[in-house]
Amino acid sequence: MADDPNVATYRIENGIAWVSFNRPDKRNCMSPNLNRRMGEILDEIEHRDDFGVLVLKGEGSAWSAGMDLKEYFRDTEALGLGATRKAQRESYGWWRRLRWYQKPTIAMVNGWCFGGGYGPLYACDLAIAADEAQFALSEINWGILPGGGATKVVVDLMPMRDAMYHAMTGELIDGKKAAEWRLVNESVPLADLETRVTQLANVLLEKNPVALKATKDAIRRVKEMTYDNAEDYLVRAQEAANSYDNDGRKEGIKQFIDDKTYKPGLGVYDRTKQVKG
Ligand code: ACO
Repeated sequence: MADDPNVATYRIENGIAWVSFNRPDKRNCMSPNLNRRMGEILDEIEHRDDFGVLVLKGEGSAWSAGMDLKEYFRDTEALGLGATRKAQRESYGWWRRLRWYQKPTIAMVNGWCFGGGYGPLYACDLAIAADEAQFALSEINWGILPGGGATKVVVDLMPMRDAMYHAMTGELIDGKKAAEWRLVNESVPLADLETRVTQLANVLLEKNPVALKATKDAIRRVKEMTYDNAEDYLVRAQEAANSYDNDGRKEGIKQFIDDKTYKPGLGVYDRTKQVKG
């Protein structure tokens, strides 16, 4: 159990779970306590049916200032290797949970995003930043390499030269540059950020949730597969998805071909008309 449950919080409203880093006075840096609480929240809410999209945001001026240099590194190291490994398990653990989360996830990057923050940033399926947000792999500035997966994150998301520059200089980039370098999908003025994220979440809420989970997992899985392996995986992933929802795609075809009520190229079928069989 987390000692202080308020270091991360959530509220569920209109189908969206707004999960917050909530240590604004510490710029939402990730302590072992925060990592534990995030893990608990993800566990608690994952299969609730009153939300369909999770948004990860930060309270105050930061999204997350990375790992807590005092509580995650110095204090934990002082307790020995066991404590270090435990702290790593807890942080990497909730990021991994998030990467494979049942519901689609959006990082709403409202402010500072440093180092270890790239773990949960990458874990979210989509990311929208404020133009005013500031990102950096600042590890090099205090004398370490970007660990905790951060190096892998930038190499996966960014072109090689940009990743190298970003990791070696530790320079800040704003939300616009982060979008240009593909760390995030797009950036918008901070004043419009929540509106844009809500709009995107609402687009996802209209889609078939079984198909969304299959799709987000497939995008991550096939990246490391050969074409033939991916082809085979995708057949099997769809057939597995059919075992959870065997009617959605049939309804999608029916509403287009028979009812002529929508065109899949231009919009989404009406799931409220789906009869379970
Ligand atoms: N670890 C521990 N404490 C932190 C961290 C952090 N990562 N980030 C902020 N804090 C604390 C500060 O020590 C300060 O604590 P205090 O009020 O007890 O003195 C408080 O949060 C507020 O921070 P300020 O520096 O006063 O806030 P400011 O708005 O001026 O600056 C900024 C914000 C730029 C984010 C600055 O706090 C900073 O550089 N933080 C460290 C960012 C970083 O490099 N993170 C590590 C990345 S590497 C990794 O994660 C592995």
